[in-house]
Amino acid sequence: MKINPVRGTHDLFGEEVNKFNKVVSEVKKTAQKFNFNELITPIFESSELFKKPLGEQSDVVLKEMYTFNDRNSDQITLRPEYTTPMIRAAITNGLLNNLPSKFFGTGQMFRRERPQKGRYRQFNQINFENFGSDDIFADIEIISLANLLLKKLIPNSKITLNINSLGTRENLNNYKKKLSKFFSDNTKFLSEESIHKINTNPLRILDSKNINEREIINRSPKLIEFLPKHDLRNYEEIKKSLTSLGINFSEDQNLVRGLDYYCHTVFEFKTNDLGTQDTLIGGGRYNGLIKTLGGKDIPGIGFAGGIERIMLLMNEVPSNDKVIHIAILDASYKIHAIKIYDFLIKNDFSVYWNYKYNLKKSLALANQKKANYIIIVGENEKRENIFSLKNLSSSKQVNVDLSNVLDYLK
Ligand code: HAM
Repeated sequence: MKINPVRGTHDLFGEEVNKFNKVVSEVKKTAQKFNFNELITPIFESSELFKKPLGEQSDVVLKEMYTFNDRNSDQITLRPEYTTPMIRAAITNGLLNNLPSKFFGTGQMFRRERPQKGRYRQFNQINFENFGSDDIFADIEIISLANLLLKKLIPNSKITLNINSLGTRENLNNYKKKLSKFFSDNTKFLSEESIHKINTNPLRILDSKNINEREIINRSPKLIEFLPKHDLRNYEEIKKSLTSLGINFSEDQNLVRGLDYYCHTVFEFKTNDLGTQDTLIGGGRYNGLIKTLGGKDIPGIGFAGGIERIMLLMNEVPSNDKVIHIAILDASYKIHAIKIYDFLIKNDFSVYWNYKYNLKKSLALANQKKANYIIIVGENEKRENIFSLKNLSSSKQVNVDLSNVLDYLK
């Protein structure tokens, strides 16, 4: 019986695992520099955690959530994103007492989207959240953190940063009304899909990928005309600071993000190298969300990135294990060989034997796997209680025993 993987899921192995681990390790190093603490939350939560905050009319809530009733009819959802679970966990565990509270996490998310390159039904996100500060220092800090992290992983030339400001929730609501009116007056230029969103989620029409709608979208009212003075000032300061930090960006008036909880600053790191699934990292402010979820009325800002999308743009990550191969020439030398095998493992080396008593095959494999050393165990080695250690880059061979082998391996 052959069982296929579920559509939209994938296995990671070999080179892909090196890339995956490199992302996670850079995330941890970056988190430490910026003082974000790791917060690991469950993979499933009560469905109500996601419905309202993400937007009942958003694609994620309408079409993409993996929701089911468990045996006692509790409605459970596999987390489609990390921000709301992190807020829930911070509230549950009293982690919002000393502000700002900064958290990061990596893990699997689940969305029932149409699978394609860079878009999966189970995927991994990196996530950074800063709870409790309204200061634009936090906005600049989080964008700069995301920028630094991406640059550690992907060649600079592949990344662009787009930013926008959405203003307060109130002004966003006023803007939505103006947009609905504008698009209602212009339905003949819109696709069925966009017409459907006019009254429920007009902002989402702005980031439509349908090129036939570009012109009408370009003529639509611009959010910047609705921004309160305070937001305009903050937005200017953020742009100035990014420039002074040497972070290149473009302003994108149509950048509104796909989840409902955003206000003020929003940003996306994109690439031209991945077709339509071009957003590597997306984030922004979500003042009001923590209160909606039953916490204090404190602001927040953060971002998430797709690990698989980032991996698609990474160069090969060499594995840095120094593997030492062993060649055992006959079964009768096995018990002698096992002494050095055990000794090297206890001294934290990575050791490999192919279970074949054949010098030629063992050497060929060690070369193919780019091993640094091979240890040869034959008749002479057994009799003298020694081992032959061959450096595969210099081809130098020496006799060693357990008391001095480490001197040669340093
Ligand atoms: P999001 O834009 O929905 O935001 O997702 C963030 C990133 O996750 C995307 O830019 C993309 O790289 C990756 N991603 C999303 N869906 C998929 C998928 N189906 N397959 C592969 N990768 C995917 C959020 O999730 C917000 N919680 C971000 C945030 C954090 N905002 C504030 N704090």
